[in-house]
Amino acid sequence: MATDAALPDLATLRAAFPALASGTAFLENAGGSQVPACVADAMHAYLTQTYVQLGAGYPLSRRCTATVDEAHAFARLFVNARRGQAILGSSTTALLNLLASCYAQVLRPGQEIILAETGHEANLGCWKRLEKQGIVIRWWPVDPATYTCTLAGLRALLGQRTALVALPHVSNLLGGIADLPAVVALAHEAGARVVADGVAYAPHRAIDVDAWDVDWYVYSTYKVFGPHMAVLYGRDDALSELPGPNHDFIPRDDLPYQFEPGGANHEGCAGLLALGEYLKLLAGADAGAPCTRAVVERAFAHAAALEQPLTARLLAYLGGKPGVRVIGPTVADEARVGTISFTHDRLSAREIVAAVDDSGVAIRHGHMYAYRLCQRLGVPVEDGVVRASFVHYNTPAEVERLIGVFDGIL
Ligand SMILES: Cc1ncc(COP(=O)(O)O)c(C=O)c1O
Repeated sequence: MATDAALPDLATLRAAFPALASGTAFLENAGGSQVPACVADAMHAYLTQTYVQLGAGYPLSRRCTATVDEAHAFARLFVNARRGQAILGSSTTALLNLLASCYAQVLRPGQEIILAETGHEANLGCWKRLEKQGIVIRWWPVDPATYTCTLAGLRALLGQRTALVALPHVSNLLGGIADLPAVVALAHEAGARVVADGVAYAPHRAIDVDAWDVDWYVYSTYKVFGPHMAVLYGRDDALSELPGPNHDFIPRDDLPYQFEPGGANHEGCAGLLALGEYLKLLAGADAGAPCTRAVVERAFAHAAALEQPLTARLLAYLGGKPGVRVIGPTVADEARVGTISFTHDRLSAREIVAAVDDSGVAIRHGHMYAYRLCQRLGVPVEDGVVRASFVHYNTPAEVERLIGVFDGIL
């Protein structure tokens, strides 16, 4: 493994992302990130050189089959799935809908699902729809003082009838990291499974489903420097109690295919797999060596270290601005990622973002599909919050540019 001195500087990392040369400050990364050239090149090469169907005996087909298999292996490495499986799908919303439709077949009327109010609608709507068949939804309230769903709040809701607890690991609006292992421990004590939405966590820290003991964990690869896909991890025992949605002649234990009707996006798999090359660069690892779990962890440790000062700077600036309400934790510590939302007591979020739109800085406003959360926090839902979101490739100068524009209007 490389020493700290071997970690690449920010300019080297940015040079790996062709889009960053455009001059636009991409501060809307919670919506979607940019991709390194290795990812784009791998997808181009797949489409122009090996675009055939999987599973046949000729060499090109064998290569494609291997690419898709290796992409699944990469997804398992990425989430640290020593146990269980990684299912690839088109988006987190689609995968959670698929999961809920599987649970619809095994849950009985009267069983309960606990939903965190901090959730994105992708991990709420699919479960709420099960109410029609007699499943009871219990809302896990957000504490507006701390912007968290507390463990005490969860304890009060868990019971013998609880089948599932669905929560975001990080809210895409608030930016605080939930205590997932503690949630899992409480839920498991009550015999319930946990469905964690890791979309807003995955770009910022290494995922470790094995350490967290979580049953289901999902994230969107297009927010983590990859193609537009998503990964759903399921623990073996959680998967085995569900009927998969694939054709009835596909064996039930043919995993993850049983949960991938129609298969995964093949060129997307090529892109996802190539992300390993970039993670090696980010980790300061040898380009010729394989992408290992240690590389993934080191890459994200480096990413978190690069991101933290950006988060601290914007939070400090906003904290000093009269009329600004930061929606989320205000300290840039370990338990927070660089997704920062705020409202203003006089200006609408729309007005603020409109003033930024033509400055070459990309941010946005809205409820970000955290619709119920906005309602519960008293944020006008249609106007929503102003959100700026950093990842490791952003620069201090980009944050200063944003602050410069904010200064003209706030
Ligand atoms: C926290 C969170 N969960 C889920 C989603 C939905 O992801 P997808 O677009 O892959 O369906 C998003 C998208 O922004 C999100 O931020």
